[in-house]
Amino acid sequence: MSVADLAKPLMVMGLMSGTSVDGVDACLARIAMHDGHLQQEMIATYTQDIAPALRSRLLKAMSDPVMGLEALCALNVAVGELFAEAALGLLRTHHILAGEVDCIGSHGQTLFHWPPPPVQSDDETGTKRPLGGTLQIGEPSIIAEKTGIYTIADFRPRDMAAGGQGAPLVCYADRLLFQDEHYTRCIQNIGGIANVTVVPPRSTEQAESQPVMAFDTGPGNMLMDAAMMHFYGKPYDENGAVAATGTIHEALLVHLLGHPYLPLTPPKTTGREQFGEPFFKAQLAQFPGLEPADWLATLTEFTAQTIVDSYQRFIFPRYQVSEMILGGGGAYNAHLRQRLEHHLKAAGQVVSLKMHADFGIHDKYKEALAFAILAWAAFQRQPNNLPECTGASHPVIMGKHCF
Ligand SMILES: Nc1ncnc2c1ncn2[C@@H]1O[C@H](COP(=O)(O)OP(=O)(O)O)[C@@H](O)[C@H]1O
Ligand SMILES: [Mg+2]
Repeated sequence: MSVADLAKPLMVMGLMSGTSVDGVDACLARIAMHDGHLQQEMIATYTQDIAPALRSRLLKAMSDPVMGLEALCALNVAVGELFAEAALGLLRTHHILAGEVDCIGSHGQTLFHWPPPPVQSDDETGTKRPLGGTLQIGEPSIIAEKTGIYTIADFRPRDMAAGGQGAPLVCYADRLLFQDEHYTRCIQNIGGIANVTVVPPRSTEQAESQPVMAFDTGPGNMLMDAAMMHFYGKPYDENGAVAATGTIHEALLVHLLGHPYLPLTPPKTTGREQFGEPFFKAQLAQFPGLEPADWLATLTEFTAQTIVDSYQRFIFPRYQVSEMILGGGGAYNAHLRQRLEHHLKAAGQVVSLKMHADFGIHDKYKEALAFAILAWAAFQRQPNNLPECTGASHPVIMGKHCF
């Protein structure tokens, strides 16, 4: 495919539901590439609510992965219908015809992610290692059938087949969206899990010491959300208001900071398997009698520290970071933002904290946009993984096509 084809604008819809299972985010963007610069314009956004019963089934499937095949099959169909509803809802709400959309990129809903084992030695790379596996449900055939739109889904397995972690995938979009001529930027998403992409300036990216780097820093909203549901029956701590009234419990914080995921060297990914409901329940059992607000204060602090600690361990020694750009629902948590700022200052780093909105990108729909961008590339048969981020042995075109 020639470069000229990439300059032709395509209308691409991205569909995303993350580990929070708080709704399916949909966005429609016009995307084109000019002189190596991605141009995108968000045309429309929409969120499809998830019925509480379906959400419960999904959360149960994630926290207790031993489920029957019949139940799994039914869930795959129900989530496929849900994602199709999200796509149709966006079209209906914004009076857009299916024929105006070139393709859909659907992430699906991750039920289980089983990354490959860490590299044991320098000469053991790529496909020589055992492969990992992953399960994203939400049958894309249903999305294609109900919308009539070319649908690309299930991106992760191809990267894993090439020896990668199958995550993080958003780094591909982050580089296209945020690469600056001079500054190194950390794109910090705070969804259920928190993940970062370090985007070095164009001029230094070729240098071996300055590749794009991306990994999961640890929990995002997941533990805070679990505590809010347990103590208050609410899905999340709006703006961090509850955490702001609590006191950090040092012993609990120290215990949490001892989690074995945190010191692992990137590339690395995590999920509900490690920081989900069972993990939260285990902490509750080990630290009985704490005030609910103190739980929130401590879990928020833990989240903030895991982010800044992982920068100190893995990013600041290699990159001169100028900006940290927050996105995902956790970016709206004012108390968490404050704690991040506090720890960055304490680390002696002059890093300005920004939001995606400062770059004209809706914070909430950034990940949906990323999957639109991944689909845009796959639609044009362009590799869309970044091996330096995922650990794959080579670039591949991720995504399965239903047309
Ligand atoms: N105003 C807010 N204050 C605090 N947290 C928020 C706010 N809005 C959203 N969130 C958090 O963001 C989460 C959803 O973020 P999202 O980026 O959609 O995550 P995921 O990708 O895991 O679905 C919610 O579960 C909640 O924890
Ligand atoms: Mg979400």
